Amino acid sequence: MNVLETKHLSKTYFSQKGGFSHQALDDFNISVEKGEFVGVMGPSGSGKTTLLNLLATIDEPTNGDLIINGTNPGKLKDHKLALFRRRELGFIFQDFNLLETLTIRENILLPLALDKVRLKEMEQKLMDLARTLQIDHILNHRTYEVSGGQQQRAACARAMIHEPALMLADEPTGNLDSKSAKQVMDSLTKLNREKQATILMVTHDPTAASFCERIVFIKDGRFFSEIRKGTNRQDFYQSILDTLSVLGGDFHEHENHRP
Ligand SMILES: Nc1ncnc2c1ncn2[C@@H]1O[C@H](COP(=O)(O)OP(=O)(O)OP(=O)(O)O)[C@@H](O)[C@H]1O
Ligand SMILES: [Mg+2]
Repeated sequence: MNVLETKHLSKTYFSQKGGFSHQALDDFNISVEKGEFVGVMGPSGSGKTTLLNLLATIDEPTNGDLIINGTNPGKLKDHKLALFRRRELGFIFQDFNLLETLTIRENILLPLALDKVRLKEMEQKLMDLARTLQIDHILNHRTYEVSGGQQQRAACARAMIHEPALMLADEPTGNLDSKSAKQVMDSLTKLNREKQATILMVTHDPTAASFCERIVFIKDGRFFSEIRKGTNRQDFYQSILDTLSVLGGDFHEHENHRP
């Protein structure tokens, strides 16, 4: 079953005065099956954030359709859309977006508290996820008392705890050193393999991307190509580098650490 499907998805930005317009996404089709771990890569300005904003249902397409878990969010009104977003989607951001006044535990439980899930059920899910992501020993700490990598793993737990149909990650390793980045990517891989999380991640970082099972490349708002991981992450990393060099453009080049 497809958890995500876009059909001819297009987005044109119009200037307020109507003088200029820019087609940021042009007839973009992507399907993601349940349990997939997909990366999206492309040069600066190619439309990745535009795509993510449409998938996150915080912006609307100019043309085309978007189906998430069988629902077209474009057809939902305010309250139902907010509910849809909260239940079906999980978000992981570059800068973690945890609430500083809360503990790690409280941050992770927040999505469940909003939906009034029973306390006992909450606690079980929390401990299970915290152990998987190796953050069970810091649950009572405040966000400023733990490392960036730990904060991001807590953000992964928060994005996962309500078992959304689709997790959307925007440069999840962008603010991390290479060791913490690897831990976060290992965590996402675990959520994907052990908890059947379906993940779509935008990244500039070829090492982070090499943890995905499939990479979709985007250029000038259009689908460019896609590659799948074989048996070896090292080979996949090399294929990613090769495709990026064919793609050209500005990638805000990260330091390329070998995986
Ligand atoms: N609100 C907006 N109004 C007008 N043009 C926009 C707007 N947002 C983005 N654009 C333009 O649309 C194109 C795609 O932008 P987008 O932010 O999706 O790129 P990106 O792939 O995320 O780039 P980066 O890697 O630099 O984050 C760019 O040319 C950008 O200038
Ligand atoms: Mg962007």
